Amino acid sequence: MEIYSHDVIILGSGLAGLRAALEAAETGKGNLDIAVIAKNHLMRPHSVCAEGGTAAVLRPEEGDSFELHAWDTVKGSDFLADQDAVELFVNTVPLEIIQLEHWGIPWSRRPDGRINSRPFGGHSFPRAVFAADKTGFFEVQTLYDTLQKHPSIHIYDECLVTSLVVEEGLYRGVVALDLKKGEFYYITSKALIIATGGACRIYGFTTYSHTVTGDGMAMAYRAGLPLKDMEFVQFHPTGLVPSGILITEAARGEGGYLKNSLGERFMQNYAPSMLELAPRDIVSRSEAQEIEAGRGFQGPHGLDYVLLDLRHLGSEMIKERLPLIREVGIKFLNLDPIEQPLPVRPVAHYSMGGIHVDTYGKTQLENVWAAGEAACVSLHGANRLGTNSTAECLVWGRITGHNAACYALAQKTLPPRAENRAREEENRIKNIFNKSGEENLYDIRQELRDVMDKKVGVFRTQKELQDALNKIKELQERFKYTGLKDKSRIYNTDLVAYVELDNMLTLAEIITLGAIRREESRGGHARRDYPMRDDQNWLKHTLAYYTSSGVMLEYIPVKITMWQPVERKY
Ligand code: FUM
Repeated sequence: MEIYSHDVIILGSGLAGLRAALEAAETGKGNLDIAVIAKNHLMRPHSVCAEGGTAAVLRPEEGDSFELHAWDTVKGSDFLADQDAVELFVNTVPLEIIQLEHWGIPWSRRPDGRINSRPFGGHSFPRAVFAADKTGFFEVQTLYDTLQKHPSIHIYDECLVTSLVVEEGLYRGVVALDLKKGEFYYITSKALIIATGGACRIYGFTTYSHTVTGDGMAMAYRAGLPLKDMEFVQFHPTGLVPSGILITEAARGEGGYLKNSLGERFMQNYAPSMLELAPRDIVSRSEAQEIEAGRGFQGPHGLDYVLLDLRHLGSEMIKERLPLIREVGIKFLNLDPIEQPLPVRPVAHYSMGGIHVDTYGKTQLENVWAAGEAACVSLHGANRLGTNSTAECLVWGRITGHNAACYALAQKTLPPRAENRAREEENRIKNIFNKSGEENLYDIRQELRDVMDKKVGVFRTQKELQDALNKIKELQERFKYTGLKDKSRIYNTDLVAYVELDNMLTLAEIITLGAIRREESRGGHARRDYPMRDDQNWLKHTLAYYTSSGVMLEYIPVKITMWQPVERKY
């Protein structure tokens, strides 16, 4: 096992990770040795799939304000967001838009040359700054380009981190397998930032890249850090059927309609004032209800759908503002949205929950921070508004990068190594190479995704959730009897699938257990058997802790600064 050391390690090379690396480098002014460790190639994070935009208040003179953005976010969250975090967020994100502008991002512009912005669901002002419908791609590209100016940033790409090493209440490094070389590394640092993204690959029908399997969340949990509000999963209303590829909400922001099989714009029956631009939890539930009432279309593999109709927007608008989704429609379904509507349905899209952090992204370990979708600040509460996620990655990438760098600068030495723990982890992984068993990894993964799709979806009931939990426990048991067919060391995708499945099974249990316990409906968590929000009993965050006898749930209060919960109407 080779041992390397740095001052700050960032796990993950998505928007939050790259932004954190840049901020740490700038704070360190050349005096910090920084490492970014990514499971795949550096320019292949899931953030490149973010399409529609980044929410920011840039136009106070036209009627927008920080208060309005904060209120939209808090109301959108079904009042579960921590309001101090929301206030910090709305105040900071415009600085990030300008920062990216200075780093060279090609924002879409108004005819007068100023940065353009478009409407998005749940936002009462058109504040989604965008770069056509490839916003995440251009943001990642801009950060990646800027990273090249910093020789103090060391890159480990295609490195699978399997465990955080924590001893006596202090983080002391990570154990990683370099997939290219098949070698194990113990990489230590003074400070760690986890920015590994969300967990929705536990679902089959999802917008996620295949690589995003909640690894950072699961590792943090096993290392003793609590996960917060994991039962809140966002279902985006427009996943393309049958692939699940994201069809950006910007399509509706630019004026697209959702229609049922009777040709009706059904959102007028569910959210008469905001229609297709109601928050995602509401639009997804409305679609599900239309389909259940027999007003959808029959799709393959039970993926019944409604239609997203953009034809009235015209070819020029679609080509300029929505070129990616047009390309996706043509390439994947041979449907050109200029001429034909697209088949869409709710799709697993985002983990509102994540590693429990304070307002500044700090975990319960003094030298570990988390940012982006891996973290739960909580900015989004029970339901995230579209375009608040790329914004969150930038804001908390900046904050955690700065704070972790300040911490590292203040430490004279690295924390003492915990080499024995690192070697134990190396041996655990080596033993997986030797394992064989009658159970098939990929069957278990498929069964996990099927049960999450069917039973932990847009609408939930006690019975379905309990069935799902029983199934997850059965799969966890069967997982013990899996092995690797491929025993080679270099680029062993069997091993990657094994580690990922282990993580996904862990997270699926936490999500489902949290959903069983939360006997109310709030945001993305809609219980048919408890259809109302219950502020009396459930205006609180869930924390899930690892214990040797299983998941332990605790609850902590929501931070309310300005806005008391009221009925949510759109
Ligand atoms: O629909 C979208 O473009 C997704 C944006 C988001 O999840 O923030």
